Amino acid sequence: TPTVRQLLAPGTPSSPNSIQVNGWVKSVRRQKRVAFAVITDGSSTEGLQAVFTDVALANDLAKGCAVRLTGVLADSIGPGQAKELQVQAVDVVGECNPEEYPVNKREMTVEYLRDHCHLRTRTDEMAAVMRLRDSMTRTMQDYFTNLGFTYAHTPLVVSNDCEDAGETFRVLAPSEGISASPAKEASPSPATERDDEKHPEHFFGRPAYLTVSSQLHLEALATSLSRVYTISPCFRAERSQTGRHLSEFWMLEAEWAFTNKVDDVCQVVEGAVRQALLRGGTELKLLRETLPEERLAVFERASAAQPWTRITYTDAIRELEKIQSTSKIFNYGPVWGQPLRSEHERWIAEQIVQGPTFVTDYPVELKPFYMRLNDDGKTVACFDLLVPHLGELVGGSLREERMLYLRKALKRDQLDAASYDWYLDLRRYGGAPHGGFGLGFERLVSWITGVENVRECIPMPRWAGRMLL
Ligand code: 4AD
Ligand code: MG
Repeated sequence: TPTVRQLLAPGTPSSPNSIQVNGWVKSVRRQKRVAFAVITDGSSTEGLQAVFTDVALANDLAKGCAVRLTGVLADSIGPGQAKELQVQAVDVVGECNPEEYPVNKREMTVEYLRDHCHLRTRTDEMAAVMRLRDSMTRTMQDYFTNLGFTYAHTPLVVSNDCEDAGETFRVLAPSEGISASPAKEASPSPATERDDEKHPEHFFGRPAYLTVSSQLHLEALATSLSRVYTISPCFRAERSQTGRHLSEFWMLEAEWAFTNKVDDVCQVVEGAVRQALLRGGTELKLLRETLPEERLAVFERASAAQPWTRITYTDAIRELEKIQSTSKIFNYGPVWGQPLRSEHERWIAEQIVQGPTFVTDYPVELKPFYMRLNDDGKTVACFDLLVPHLGELVGGSLREERMLYLRKALKRDQLDAASYDWYLDLRRYGGAPHGGFGLGFERLVSWITGVENVRECIPMPRWAGRMLL
């Protein structure tokens, strides 16, 4: 049985023979001598127009019911669609009471749909987001495949907190319970060969966490496969209730060996995001329908501009200070050594640059232990990619490949060198200069489509206080 997308594809011949189509009824319109219904199977933004010259055939149809239609695919004489199905037989395979159907309402707020997230991909917009995620994944896979990267599967249950931000979820086996002493949980036990003997109270022989980032594992793989990437779920127990944060989100991460310039990493990121920008498609068109002209202009400019602006953190702070001293527009004054606030990030991308901006070389105190120290001893070889209307889309860096500096960084951040011994091995044995980045997949979808909140860029969102199914 063909999908609706296949039937509507240009070039699909009309056929005198009967075909069958499966789908759900989106709408029904009854006239005296003819009835119409739009059928969707989620394969395309457009539904298939079904025409019933035998009006009685449409009697049992209502929005939401699942049907199998038999009919003839013909060129449509009416306006609005190229093809229509002239229906000969109807089989209602799943009824749906339109009075009770939760997504049969005229006004459905974003909140209402979140409360019904098991049903909300039935709306045109959410279905479009789902298809866009699918094709975006392929766009990214093609991009990295062409650059010679290997797609790798990294673990979700891990022994470390990659970002050392204290936002990891613990994983407990039934036997572990919650009685394990918090003091013991605070720092992972040293990696030894027989942890299970030392710590039988832990299922894995040590505390286990859900991954916040695949980076450290990708670094390990990059020491053998040179260029690796993954698209993986990440979990963060952060309480930020913003339109950019989820507790469970997907990250595209890439890591490669034999790079020693931050700019190389920026170039790969720029190429990937540009591919996403150039995708097009009916899903994007539908989702961008209500976007103001100025937002669309940003995409136009970003697609054309090459390369995107690079500015150091130090220069960015200087620019922000200038603005603050003359116009006091920020709630928080920019201060060297402090994180950029989201109002600062947006100002840089929206006002100073008016396009995607790589802010590079942040102060060492603001960034995790693994970033490579610059010669100034104060900043690290890293970047955040900031984009208009969203803020941070990507973070990346060169990784510290020098044993001495890495040990110092672990000490500075009070991390237990013994638990990172495997990570030090990557430097001990053939450690090559390397770097990589992580891109929030929902944030990419949100930025590209203009869908305001990442909660609408993933089918079943999770955030602090919310996990419906
Ligand atoms: O900046 P982050 O925390 O960087 C890392 O985790 C690095 N280890 C990545 C790497 O270099 N391999 O996260 C990277 C990106 C952010 O820029 C943001 O787009 C997204 O992941 N992100 C989130 N997206 C949704 N919800 C959250 N809670 C997110 N936290 C980060
Ligand atoms: Mg970051």
